Amino acid sequence: MATLATAPHYYNYEIVRRFTLTTLFWGILGMGMGVFIAAQLVWPELNFGIPWLSFGRIRPVHTNLVIFAFGGGALFATSFYVLQRTCRVRIISDGLANFLFWGWQAAVLAMIVSYPLGITSSKEYAEMEWPIALWVTLLWLIYAYLFFGTIARRQVRHIYVGNWFYGAFIIVTGMVHVVNHIAEPVSLLKSYSVYSGATDAMIQWWYGHSVVGFILSVGFLGMMYYFVPKQAERPIYSYRLSIVHFWAIITLYIWAGPHHLHYTALPDWAQTLGMAMSVILLAPSWGGMINGMMSLSGAWHKLRTDPILRFLVVSLAFYGMSTFEGPMMAIKTVNALSHYTDWTIGHVHAGALGWVAMISIGALYHMLPKLYGRTQMHSVGLINAHFWLATIGTVLYIASMWVNGITQGLMWRAVNEDGTLTYSFVEALEASHPGYVVRLLGGAVFASGMLLMAWNTWLTVRSGERIDAVPSTPDVGAAANA
Ligand code: HEM
Ligand code: HEM
Repeated sequence: MATLATAPHYYNYEIVRRFTLTTLFWGILGMGMGVFIAAQLVWPELNFGIPWLSFGRIRPVHTNLVIFAFGGGALFATSFYVLQRTCRVRIISDGLANFLFWGWQAAVLAMIVSYPLGITSSKEYAEMEWPIALWVTLLWLIYAYLFFGTIARRQVRHIYVGNWFYGAFIIVTGMVHVVNHIAEPVSLLKSYSVYSGATDAMIQWWYGHSVVGFILSVGFLGMMYYFVPKQAERPIYSYRLSIVHFWAIITLYIWAGPHHLHYTALPDWAQTLGMAMSVILLAPSWGGMINGMMSLSGAWHKLRTDPILRFLVVSLAFYGMSTFEGPMMAIKTVNALSHYTDWTIGHVHAGALGWVAMISIGALYHMLPKLYGRTQMHSVGLINAHFWLATIGTVLYIASMWVNGITQGLMWRAVNEDGTLTYSFVEALEASHPGYVVRLLGGAVFASGMLLMAWNTWLTVRSGERIDAVPSTPDVGAAANA
């Protein structure tokens, strides 16, 4: 006989809880690593002369932890939560969901152990060597099966728009992961990409930009479409706009990759195509941002008292900002100044901290009390403190990187009348040092907010009770939006 927790008309919240808590754990570790490498850029001697502590080896530990373990974990947790609630059906296989959970933790561990040891494919965001890449492919197939299988068994005719975004994220991420990782293994821990030269670079940045587009944007937009209206207790501003937004964004994102390869051996037409598609991308990106923001119509007053809603709204503001900045940076003449400088790092973290981390934090705060049978988090005051630490930390981080980036770009291109360079590289580096100190401060402030969140979560979990399943009653937000 089915127990309460496994009865088919109850949701599987256990899988959501697990991914939620590990997201928090990996987030703190990944951001801690970010603070550590930011400190190395202030005090280079912090690598202590130990190869596996060197910046080049630790940096991918940071990027993989924050993108795949923190960002990925938040997407697993929220997609399973949203999927079940909006389809009003339990996820199709608990066993496979558990396999995915443990398999993913193993993959993350394998990544963060192998990179410091120097075991890497050396492709950015795709550093994992072939056995890990194969394992991730298997897990991704399972994820797709769970997601689309559950959609197929849904109890409502309509597929909520958030699920369209999650679905596109799953399909495209799987596709680019497989294509970019095709390699010839020469040993258990070493392989060589089957692509070479400019083709290799093109495939890599087609992948790289799709990670930005489909994991860091489309996936989190799926999250946005559920949690913003739910927290605001308002329907989505325009359901029609959300459909236009979906088709426009998935059509355009996949073409924008060449903007990472301006002024390289990549054919000129491909660079121009990448630039044009990136500029057009501004429209759907802002369409989505406006749709989210306007969902607060009539509920703006809630911002005064609800710090979770503040996290969600400010994340949309940063999304709007970084998706304005990105298309500008994709213009070749602007990129001639910004590329290789800290401006790119500022842009990345406007998206990563301001958008990805903030919307995830808001979504986790929304879910946590529901997963542990409480009406709200243990301390709303602590959420408020976290909100300010996150906002101030993000602003310090990105402002310092803008100043650094523009300073570097201008110093590198300055020439004397006789055509020699006005500044040496070291002079530009010296000018960047204060910016690195401010970035370290901003990063540390942001990360300290995460520690407050962990403390608040611990207090909530400890005093709450694990609600193993809740009846699949109609989901108010989704119903209102349907
Ligand atoms: C319309 C949207 C966007 C466009 C057109 C865009 C465009 C760009 C451009 C032109 C660069 C610099 C490439 C270079 O000079 O090497 C860049 C870098 C980057 N962007 Fe965006 N961006 C957008 C949104 C976002 C968002 C929302 C995020 C989320 C986090 C993000 C994450 C990144 C990352 C991680 C890089 C660095 C890639 C690397 O070099 O490792 N972007 N983007
Ligand atoms: C406490 C927070 C954080 C700090 C202090 C931090 C710090 C750093 C530092 C120092 C770098 C290397 C910059 C360089 O090479 O010059 C970096 C790179 C990067 N970080 Fe973070 N980070 C933080 C949070 C995050 C989060 C939450 C994400 C994603 C969700 C993220 C994504 C990235 C990416 C994609 C890069 C590579 C950028 C590129 O290659 O252009 N970071 N981070």
